[in-house]
Amino acid sequence: MVDTIDEYDLLICGSGLAGLRAAISAAKTAPNLKIAVVSKLQVMRSHSVSAEGGTAAVMFEDEGDTIESHVYDTVKGSDFLADQDVAERLCVEMPREIHQLDHWGMPWSRRKDGRIDQRNFGGYSFPRATYASDKVGFFEMQTLYDTCQKFDNISYLNEWFATCIVHDGRKFLGLTAIELKTGAFYSIRARALIIATGGAGRLYSFSTYALSSTPDGLDMGLRAGMALKDMEFVQFHPTGIMPSGILITEGARGEGGYLLNSAGERFMKRYAPSKMELAPRDIVSRSIMSEIREGRGFKHETGVDCMKLDLRHIGDERIKEKLGGIREISIKFSGIDPAKDLLDVRPVCHYMMGGLHTNIDGATEIQGVWAAGEAACNSVHGSNRLGANSTSECIVWGKITGEQAAMYAERQSSASRPPWPHHVVNAEEKRIYDGIFRGGGGANPYEIRQELTDAMNSNAYVYRNGDELAEGLRTARNLRKESWKHVDDKAAEYNTNFTNVMELDSMFRVAEIVLVGAINRKESRGAHARTDYPKRDDENYLHHTLAYYDPQGPIMKTHPVTITKYKPVERKY
Ligand code: FUM
Repeated sequence: MVDTIDEYDLLICGSGLAGLRAAISAAKTAPNLKIAVVSKLQVMRSHSVSAEGGTAAVMFEDEGDTIESHVYDTVKGSDFLADQDVAERLCVEMPREIHQLDHWGMPWSRRKDGRIDQRNFGGYSFPRATYASDKVGFFEMQTLYDTCQKFDNISYLNEWFATCIVHDGRKFLGLTAIELKTGAFYSIRARALIIATGGAGRLYSFSTYALSSTPDGLDMGLRAGMALKDMEFVQFHPTGIMPSGILITEGARGEGGYLLNSAGERFMKRYAPSKMELAPRDIVSRSIMSEIREGRGFKHETGVDCMKLDLRHIGDERIKEKLGGIREISIKFSGIDPAKDLLDVRPVCHYMMGGLHTNIDGATEIQGVWAAGEAACNSVHGSNRLGANSTSECIVWGKITGEQAAMYAERQSSASRPPWPHHVVNAEEKRIYDGIFRGGGGANPYEIRQELTDAMNSNAYVYRNGDELAEGLRTARNLRKESWKHVDDKAAEYNTNFTNVMELDSMFRVAEIVLVGAINRKESRGAHARTDYPKRDDENYLHHTLAYYDPQGPIMKTHPVTITKYKPVERKY
């Protein structure tokens, strides 16, 4: 039995930075619009709260920084796969957004003279990461959530798991979703949708992401007919703390921390002599793995290879002030006080450059649907994102898509609605309840999920090659054939067993696209480093990858890169 909700104009799926910024922007653009933020979590449990080190923006033009330099750093960091018009939009819009957040109450860290402070981050020519100690995401989320409370036209469907985009082949009509508290299945009719469901980094078992960061939002778009773009580009942050993988912010290196190998050397001098530990993440992660491969790593007590991060010289007082969050994480999760001892770190899955294919305004291929933040791929980051450009992206495209979707929904309010496609909703109900909830099967879905995410770690990590990627794809496809649709718990209310299996269902489709994209891209570019094709190949691969859903396996296409000013050159740091 499907209940229908018919009171909203605009749905925002996802309640992280992009989703909340979109909600504010839409509510301001069209005060009469009824907006609902739909999230499988409670708002403040969105993974955005975990962002640590900074939000990039040009704030000190009077001291020599320039928008052009931010654009170029972003494009160079992307290994020239960023769409340059999109990178420019990010950098132009961001300074205003930093001030906007400030006016809404964001407690930015400040200089002694009262100006908003910035710290160094990897790959930038100027200290450009605006910060609030090392809890940037938490404070940004709090600021946006507080601001949302000022708008009566924003509602929250907290803990609603969206499952399907309903459209008529051309135009958005609504969503289906499960209210997790009751287990009831709903159709939610609306005029516009923004997908802001974040990244899918829990495709990997060693990951900085919250356990909830699975690709259900991406998969929902994919099943609706949208392309996923550039999914082969997965970012590995150099410093995930052992053994949990929790993020140790790049801000730690921005504040002066450095990496040491087992010979006691700052090995980054061999790989990026001018930027050292503040080279872009792809380079630092590869350097760590090269050192490990050449026998200059450390063995963690768990048996895993790692490197050391030294923050001791920063001093206890400054660590407490600027890096209080990672100090607490180090002590609680690894038993190490960073003022006294070296931290064990290793590259960890941290971000997906890929996502739902959008244009520069965040519009997807379905009329009435936009995507923003990490769930989207507007190609601002190309094949490698610079640190601190992600929270910026969420904020800028939250604002843009909120405006665009609100204006569209207003225009649509006078248009007659196409008939509601009951057959789509019925098919979705069958897929979920017959296909998954009553799917049966003997395999343990938690074990299958672990095996899948371990296979991604082993076969599609910092360095890849054709054989390992093919092995990863074989493993993923074999695991998928097992009867993992096994929901033991038959309760309707808060059935986490059920949601876990739904998440796993989406993980199979998206993992396959990551692997097929990586197999097809026979070059090394940004975060995609193939030992069998170690060079960038602009002649054959200076293009984006698109993947469309097909039950037999993804249909892969290419899409041009927008180059406005900067011809691709070899990256040197
Ligand atoms: O290292 C960090 O604080 C991460 C920042 C980012 O991914 O942008």
